[in-house]
Amino acid sequence: MRVIAIDGPAGAGKSTIARALAARLGLQYLDTGAMYRGVTFAALRGDVPLDDTEAVADLSRRVMLEVGDTGVFVDGVDATAAIRTAEVTGAVSKVAANSGVRTEMRARQQQWAAERGGGVIEGRDIGSVVFPDAELKLYLTASPRVRAERRVAEAGGDVEEIERAIAARDHYDSTRADSPLTEAAGSTLVDTTGLSVEEVLQHIVRLLEH
Ligand code: DC
Repeated sequence: MRVIAIDGPAGAGKSTIARALAARLGLQYLDTGAMYRGVTFAALRGDVPLDDTEAVADLSRRVMLEVGDTGVFVDGVDATAAIRTAEVTGAVSKVAANSGVRTEMRARQQQWAAERGGGVIEGRDIGSVVFPDAELKLYLTASPRVRAERRVAEAGGDVEEIERAIAARDHYDSTRADSPLTEAAGSTLVDTTGLSVEEVLQHIVRLLEH
């Protein structure tokens, strides 16, 4: 099984790089953040209180999630755009801190990779917890301002406000008890500030050759 794990904070360029790297290596790509967003969408839609950890964990075990090139489907409903709304983005850290949800998502991610002989998988705990034996573990980061600017370029908004929101989410994701965002042992730090997508890709391809 060939797994490339890409972790890092919001806006570091993980999705862009992971998708391009997967295409270059002939592997499939999995956005695990979209899975946590999908569970959050399902909980909000079903009026499941996010503070009810058992009910949310239960929901995560029942929900049908399809995360792929054609979009994100939650129980058959196209949620590709809905999982990126401010409502879901504001609530997802709470769902991602739920241990029952994490246990279920990890099992699904491991099954996804096993069925495909691996893949390029991005998230927060991929190299540290889900695939500690990945062939290559990358920790992508960039300055907070650049990360906010990338998000604004994608989805609009005010840079300072987005920078504050990203900082708050990173803090929450990095300080939760269960598999917090952290640089995994054996991971390579790649600071994408000031680098083009192609420069980052070339750097990663060189790392794979060693
Ligand atoms: O990458 P993203 O912004 O779509 O991630 C959404 C949220 O899910 C984010 O708050 C961190 C969390 N997440 C996580 O805890 N573990 C992962 N493997 C992926 C995402």
